[in-house]
Amino acid sequence: MDETAAKLKIDKLTEELTQHNYNYYILSQPTISDFEFDVLLKELEKLEAEFPHLVHINSPTQKVGGDITKGFKQVAHKYPMLSLGNTYSEEELNDFDDRVKKSIGSNFNYVAELKFDGLAISITYEKGQLIRAVTRGDGTKGDDVTANVKTIKTVPQQLKGEGYPDTFEIRGEIFMHRKTFEKLNDEYRQELLLKGYDDDEIKERLYKNPRNFASGTLKMQDSAEVAKRPLDCFLYFIYSDNQVADSHYQSLIKAKEWGFQVSEHARVCQNIQEVMDFIRFYDKQRESLSFEIDGVVIKVNQYAQQLELGFTAKNPRWAISYKYKAQSVLSQLEKITYQVGRTGAITPVANLTPVQLAGTTVKRASLYNADEIERLDLHENDWVYVEKGGEIIPKIVSVNLLKRNVNALKITYALNCPECNTPLIRREGEALHYCPNENGCQPQLIGKIEHFIGRRAMNIDSLGSETVAGLYQKGLIKNYADLYDLTFDQLIGLEFEVGEDEKKKRSLKDKSVDNILTGINESKKVPFERVLFALGIRMVGETVAKKLAKHFITIDKIIAATREEIASIYEIGDKIADQVTRYFADGANINTINKLKLKGIQLALHEDEQLNRTDKLAAKSFLVSGTFTISRDELKKLIENNGGRNVGSISKSLNYLIAGDKMGPEKLKKATDLGIPIISEEQFMEMIH
Ligand code: IVH
Repeated sequence: MDETAAKLKIDKLTEELTQHNYNYYILSQPTISDFEFDVLLKELEKLEAEFPHLVHINSPTQKVGGDITKGFKQVAHKYPMLSLGNTYSEEELNDFDDRVKKSIGSNFNYVAELKFDGLAISITYEKGQLIRAVTRGDGTKGDDVTANVKTIKTVPQQLKGEGYPDTFEIRGEIFMHRKTFEKLNDEYRQELLLKGYDDDEIKERLYKNPRNFASGTLKMQDSAEVAKRPLDCFLYFIYSDNQVADSHYQSLIKAKEWGFQVSEHARVCQNIQEVMDFIRFYDKQRESLSFEIDGVVIKVNQYAQQLELGFTAKNPRWAISYKYKAQSVLSQLEKITYQVGRTGAITPVANLTPVQLAGTTVKRASLYNADEIERLDLHENDWVYVEKGGEIIPKIVSVNLLKRNVNALKITYALNCPECNTPLIRREGEALHYCPNENGCQPQLIGKIEHFIGRRAMNIDSLGSETVAGLYQKGLIKNYADLYDLTFDQLIGLEFEVGEDEKKKRSLKDKSVDNILTGINESKKVPFERVLFALGIRMVGETVAKKLAKHFITIDKIIAATREEIASIYEIGDKIADQVTRYFADGANINTINKLKLKGIQLALHEDEQLNRTDKLAAKSFLVSGTFTISRDELKKLIENNGGRNVGSISKSLNYLIAGDKMGPEKLKKATDLGIPIISEEQFMEMIH
């Protein structure tokens, strides 16, 4: 790679990894797996070794994470909190073993321990009393979270027994048990539901795994709140000026005697083969543990030998971690089925012989589209490896060709819709197949009605998916406009099947009928932009719907608009314009809209919304961050009503950052670095008045 290309790549990787560190440590919401992070980090390390003069001062390769949070007192670590080198293969582990042997000969043993997936903590004891607990932070200083750690029942505040040093630090991992996580996340889900969040928002807000939940909890300012979210802690390393034993394993035994919780899964291994047995054993066992682990930590046992091996700039040379890869399992493809979405998009699904994977039974895996089937070169009854990472749905990673039957036929993609038998189409440049029978294909019709009643659309929450399906089966509704014809007499006592079980029936009673009719009636007040979104036009999400509504003011003007006119609106473009014109060219859709019009649905912007609109901010982009005297949504609306654009992240092309109270320091720094004007709420108000 030449120098210019290397610089570009190093800059990009540095920026990406810094963002991932921030997502992981500060937000507790990582967007990539540890493995993916390590791959990027290794790539950066390699490039930096080749081009040392291009290394950034704050390169993520030079730092140990970084989870310092505002609001906590910072404390310097007496002994820096280092991380460990990672390996993912037995080969790399053998290399580690060779390095150790080269340095200290072969007369030594290892301790193999589980690598708990939580947050590192350093706790100081004086005269047997817990005096301070500090997070890893940037490795040299961290947050003082003593009050929070004191809520953890397994961390002793007063040591028992004897022989502990006057002053020492003990390191360990704070984590949350899987069961606790599931229970608390479930309660949190209920709370969000009550607050009216929809499924997607809830999914975004819920903690993704026990580690994130533990991290979010440990960083709370109110320890009374922390105490309600039980955390746990395993201790695994003692630092003291006078060592308490000759070996790490002996120290663990001592720590246990003094009242610390030490994991029962630590083993002394005489050589690297025994370490590998330990690794393989726990790879199988890890699902049955009550907490999550992400690997195994291997430490040279004798302190004298640890001292001899010493440290690199970042890691001890006497320890390493072996990280488990996402778990995968072999299963056989039984058949491929095709799901039809509300827009007619077809998703192929692999139906597999049920297998256990990471604690759950896997029966299906998504195949995404025809290209994916082609990539895997899937044949009938193939044996496939299925992988599950984090909370993601299982996917097929590869095919075991050795197990393929010689006569097996290659999978050919469905030609017709599985629901209505209409020939499927695949437009040029698109990955998905579609069923074009928009107004006659049952899952599309029901799906469109479900979308129409959704919270962000017409918000008819007294109608659920099951009722919609029931009303459709009974022939009472064929499209969403029919909802407005429903009467009390039609609905009362109506019986329909619920779910796949034919025997399970539901019958509508007075109260739910009243609620349904009120909900439908109330939806007539929903503003035009949301109605436009509710129509379910392909590629018209909330943002595009808003843009169209603002630009055209009435549905009649959108219907009359040419494809070019629509495409010329800022950030709309040809593809969306095609979909919009296609939708309104269909007579059936126009009939539905005419019916909605007759029923009093908002198909034009409100007069006051039309009046308050200016183009004072035309073509200017804004990012709103922090808290203001008005709500952020109101502020965003003001931006839009005056022709400006709201964006979600800082980039070179951003015109203004409107900074409120409690704005994140990262954003401020990034905007300053990029020279983006930062304005206050008052300054913004002056711009529009
Ligand atoms: S020993 C110098 N033992 O993994 C030795 N670490 O990348 C320091 N961890 O920061 C660590 N389980 O947060 C050690 N049994 C274990 C561990 C463990 C989890 C974490 C810890 C550390 C990171 C190393």
